Amino acid sequence: MRIEPLRAGFGATIQGIDPAREADASLRAALQDAIDRHAVLVFPGQRLDTEGQLRFSRIFGELQPTLAARRDGAAAAGPREVGSIGNVDALGRTVGAGERQRILQLSNLLWHTDEAFSVDRGRYTFLSAHVVPPEGGATQFVDMRAAFSALPVREQNRLLLLRVRHSLAQSRRLAGTPALAALEEDRFPAVWHPLVHAAADGRLALYLASYACAIEGWNDDDARREIDRLMAAATRPELVLEHRWREGDLVMWDNFCTMHRGTPFDDQHHRRQLRRTTVSESGARARRTALTAAA
Ligand SMILES: [Fe+2]
Repeated sequence: MRIEPLRAGFGATIQGIDPAREADASLRAALQDAIDRHAVLVFPGQRLDTEGQLRFSRIFGELQPTLAARRDGAAAAGPREVGSIGNVDALGRTVGAGERQRILQLSNLLWHTDEAFSVDRGRYTFLSAHVVPPEGGATQFVDMRAAFSALPVREQNRLLLLRVRHSLAQSRRLAGTPALAALEEDRFPAVWHPLVHAAADGRLALYLASYACAIEGWNDDDARREIDRLMAAATRPELVLEHRWREGDLVMWDNFCTMHRGTPFDDQHHRRQLRRTTVSESGARARRTALTAAA
């Protein structure tokens, strides 16, 4: 396995492995070390099928059912752990402008970390590209360890013990889809998470997302200003790592030390189809415990 860093300490391209094949213990350990260090891993041109993506994702822990599967139950198409990102649905049909899948995905254009609105958050996300548009439709990342360490020490100390409320409805409102917010508010109640936590490499990281809507003990205006200020500082253009998809690429990232967003594309004229799987926070923890016990 060859690791080629994309930026100093953030993002790497992995060559020389075949994610479609069973990984032995030493490859698993090397991959875990690579994601802990680099936070975003790009595996170019893998062309994984759904089974291959499920198997590779499970190296890092148990997967969580997609939001669509949890919301729609049996009505959701395809395996419960595989999400469709883009404007092609699970059956290969292009989704029209006013259709639900398109509207639901407007939130993906906002900086976020996956499933921050859940008690059991998304830990590792895997995206594979099946159809990519000629322009746009990239995925951008920022390093939330770097975002925290760039703050003055006095400010870091001030943030250490804060807790932030995350709600799916907040992201729906920011994306301009308040009707969805109203629908989902009761189904997915907001949750509290620490604003600062230790990332896998031991460094402290900010944990923020478009879902962030309140700070414990703060009034609404002050909290909104503080969240917006921290989000803006973390996502300054010079900090952004952009992955421009080519068909067959697989990218994975650690949601506990990054934020990401999709970039727009001409979805009236072009197709974009990515498949997503996500290892849950509890799944990743259980996996790590098992690895430590075996070592
Ligand atoms: Fe996402």
